[in-house]
Amino acid sequence: MTSFVSNNTIWQLNDEDSIQIKYNTNNHELIIELFHNGIKMNSISLNNDQCSTFTRRFCDTTNELNELLTDLLIQTSTDDCSIRVIDDGKSLEIIFPIYFGSQNRKKIWSFFIHFPIFSLNLGENQNEEEMSLDPLDWTDTRILGHKIIDDMIDYLRDIRQQPTWRPMPTEIKSELMQSELPLKGESPWKVYEQIQKTILPYPIGNIHPRFWGYVRGNGSSIGALAEFITATMNTMSSGGHQSSIYVERQILSWLKIIMGFPNDDTCSGVLVSGTSVATIISMAVAKKKFDGQLIKVYYSSETHTCLIRAAQLLGIEKENMIIIPTNDQRQIDLKILSESIDSNSCAFIVGSAGTVGTGSIDDLQGLADLCSINPNKLWFHVDGAIGAVARCSTRLRSLFIGLERADSIAFDLHKWLFIPYECGCVLIRHGELHRATFAQPHAFYLALMDGGITPREGEFFFSDYTLELSRNMKSLKVWMTLKTYGIDKIGQIMEQNVDQAKYFVNLIEKYHHDELQVLANVSLNIVCFRYYFNHNNKTNLELLNKLNKHLLVLIQERGIAVVSPYVIDNEIFAMRMCIINHRTKQSDLHWFIEKLLEIARQLRQLPEFATIES
Ligand SMILES: Cc1ncc(COP(=O)(O)O)c(C=O)c1O
Repeated sequence: MTSFVSNNTIWQLNDEDSIQIKYNTNNHELIIELFHNGIKMNSISLNNDQCSTFTRRFCDTTNELNELLTDLLIQTSTDDCSIRVIDDGKSLEIIFPIYFGSQNRKKIWSFFIHFPIFSLNLGENQNEEEMSLDPLDWTDTRILGHKIIDDMIDYLRDIRQQPTWRPMPTEIKSELMQSELPLKGESPWKVYEQIQKTILPYPIGNIHPRFWGYVRGNGSSIGALAEFITATMNTMSSGGHQSSIYVERQILSWLKIIMGFPNDDTCSGVLVSGTSVATIISMAVAKKKFDGQLIKVYYSSETHTCLIRAAQLLGIEKENMIIIPTNDQRQIDLKILSESIDSNSCAFIVGSAGTVGTGSIDDLQGLADLCSINPNKLWFHVDGAIGAVARCSTRLRSLFIGLERADSIAFDLHKWLFIPYECGCVLIRHGELHRATFAQPHAFYLALMDGGITPREGEFFFSDYTLELSRNMKSLKVWMTLKTYGIDKIGQIMEQNVDQAKYFVNLIEKYHHDELQVLANVSLNIVCFRYYFNHNNKTNLELLNKLNKHLLVLIQERGIAVVSPYVIDNEIFAMRMCIINHRTKQSDLHWFIEKLLEIARQLRQLPEFATIES
């Protein structure tokens, strides 16, 4: 039941204007209604968050604001105190003195309460205005914007206090899935409230310090701010005479330098949504080179499946997809590879700079040597989704020697370079060929002008290098991130992640080897492990797999951490930890092991797992 504390008195502000304040003690909602000559012009309902923003954090709650307004309305006789209607009835200006210090010094404080524009009775003049999505009063947008920025910064700051993941309640899912069309607009404050309730609390978790599942990057606070600038500029980044093109070209120069490619126009590159698209582009350029000839794709059993999708899309038949076994380091077996290459066809040979399962790095130098034997028929491609950017680190760079000799590199910046999703890149050693693969004669209307904003025929145009014409400005978030943090620091965080993976292995092997087992060599930042008992015969393997599966689900569902599943050697179920996380601390690893063992020991007591130790 609604109960209003304030007495609903109409307070006369001047001859024409009056306000009424209602405070709802049940939901802490404060309703302010504005009257002009006795006619209700406008009203606003505030929650605690809005209250805090409007009053520049002077009143944290609606209760406080209610008390403040009530007091002020009683005291408006003093010169320093006033409540005025301004902006044609769109705002209330509230001014009052505050006293501080031993001398009881006085400061005048003021703030505005803006009535939301979307619920405004617009009045005759405004009805005649032509429509636009711009607000009539930018102040409300500014206040909402400030609040969203404040909230998002708090969201990042406090992420450690949140569970890594929380399941979405069914009613929230249904709310988001309901299909009623939003035909009539509503206040952005109300829309933002819905976001706070239904969207923000339910991420997959990859910005959390204990998210180590799959290969998901954190992004960063600076990257998030860059995205706001990007969306504000809302530029279409295909070409033309605009800053975004030059920023992207600068980024590509930096990336060429990091990857050890010649930093000139003989090599080309473009920012894309991720490695999957970068792989399609790489293969398309190789196909162009081998124009009309039979192409076979050679790759190890550990290679990411985006390669297969690219091949399917580009019409490469299944029988021409040749899987090469790996050696004991889970690298593509070079001897078997060189024996398998069919000399009657062209080859697209794939090396991984960090495989998705265990993070193993193929012998890129060996692959480059092999391909250099017949560069007219052999194309050396590197899937660098995870590891290529680790060349930012002087210490890790040596792991990727040979990458600089590739014909094409597909890699991600949204993973280990901490750029917000989406951002990947493809670099191609053969710029002319790259352009020839995608460029079309420019539309006639682009060539109609001699000057102005459009690129002329022959001028640089990003869409000549990729699948898309309309493309957003991915470069700003990269630019702002790299310039703010510096490549050295990012490289050091990568080293820290690699050290953390080794530290985790060490913890297991030194202190928990009777209960935990590392299942694959750790060459980068990925650890595959499981809970186990020393007895490991075939029957027990099935049970162990079952127990580990169960364990992994509980770890995720209880919000402790996120690690993801993998299968080692086609039979052993593994929990897989991939640390590409600038927020992870060693203490997270300790805590994780403690919780993991706690749950595993409980599970082990269940009757269904009793025979594990038999
Ligand atoms: C090794 C590897 N290659 C390719 C990909 C696909 O990258 P994206 O999701 O950016 O398209 C991934 C994704 O995790 C990966 O780990």
